[in-house]
Amino acid sequence: MKNKPYIILSSAMTIDGKIASRTGDPELSDEEDWKEVHKIRSTVDAIMVGKGTIVKDNPKLHIKYHNHHGYYRIVVDSMLSIPIESQVVDHEPKLYPTIICTTDNVSEERVKEFKNKKVKILQVGGEDKVDIKNLMPILYDMGIHSILLEGGGTLNWSFINDNLIDEIRLTIAPWIVGGEHATSLVEGGGFEKMSQAPRFKLVNVKYRNDYVILKYLRG
Ligand SMILES: NC(=O)c1ccc[n+]([C@@H]2O[C@H](COP(=O)([O-])OP(=O)(O)OC[C@H]3O[C@@H](n4cnc5c(N)ncnc54)[C@H](OP(=O)(O)O)[C@@H]3O)[C@@H](O)[C@H]2O)c1
Repeated sequence: MKNKPYIILSSAMTIDGKIASRTGDPELSDEEDWKEVHKIRSTVDAIMVGKGTIVKDNPKLHIKYHNHHGYYRIVVDSMLSIPIESQVVDHEPKLYPTIICTTDNVSEERVKEFKNKKVKILQVGGEDKVDIKNLMPILYDMGIHSILLEGGGTLNWSFINDNLIDEIRLTIAPWIVGGEHATSLVEGGGFEKMSQAPRFKLVNVKYRNDYVILKYLRG
C-alpha cells in the first residue's frame, strides 16, 4: 500500500499470549519495560489504540521517562462512545493532540462535544467499523508517517487481517494467566490456514529478569 504510515505493533503478553487477565488486569510490564516502550513512543509520530483499551484502562498514553516533543494519540472508536472525560482527551492535549477515528454513523452533537475539547475527529467509512485501510493514507497525508499500535487484541486483529503491520515489538512477561475470556494479543476471527497469515522475521531477542523481548519485521 502506498502512503501508509510505518506500523509498529507493541505489546506485553503473558507466556500464554494474554494481554490482560480475565478481569482486565493489564499490569504485565515492569518499570524497565515501560521505559523501553516510552523510548519507542518518543520516536513515532503517533500512538494508536482501540476504544476497548480506552474504556477498560483509561490510559494517558503519555511519556514519563524521556525528553520528547509529543505526538498524536489516535483512538479508533466507531460510535464516538469513549467517555468524554477520558484521560486521552483531558491529559496534556497540547503536547499529545488526540485524534478519534470514527464512522459516519455518529451524531453531529457528539462530534461537536469532542471538538469543543480540541479533539480532531476523522470520519472514515460509513459502515459499522472504522475502515482502517482507508484511514492509512489520510493519516499519512497529515504527516503521520510512523505509528506505535498499542492494542488491544481486537484492533490488533484488524491490522493483522489487513496485513498492515511492518514491525512487532513484543514483551513476554513471566506468567501464565489463562482464561478463555482474557484478551489475547490478537483476537478477531483468525485465519483458516497458517499459509494465509502474514509471516514475520525474527531480528532481535533480549531477555532480563525472566522477561523476553522480541523484535520482528514483516517477512
Ligand atoms: N498488555 C498490553 O500491552 C496491552 C495493550 C493494550 C491493551 N491491552 C488490553 O487489551 C484490552 C482491550 O482490548 P479489546 O480487544 O477489548 O479492545 P481494543 O482492541 O482496544 O478496541 C477494539 C474496539 O475498537 C473499535 N473499533 C472500531 N473500528 C475498528 C476496527 N476496524 N477494528 C477493530 N476495532 C475497531 C471497536 O469498538 P466499536 O465498534 O464500539 O467502535 C472494537 O470493539 C484491555 O483489557 C487492555 O488492558 C493490553
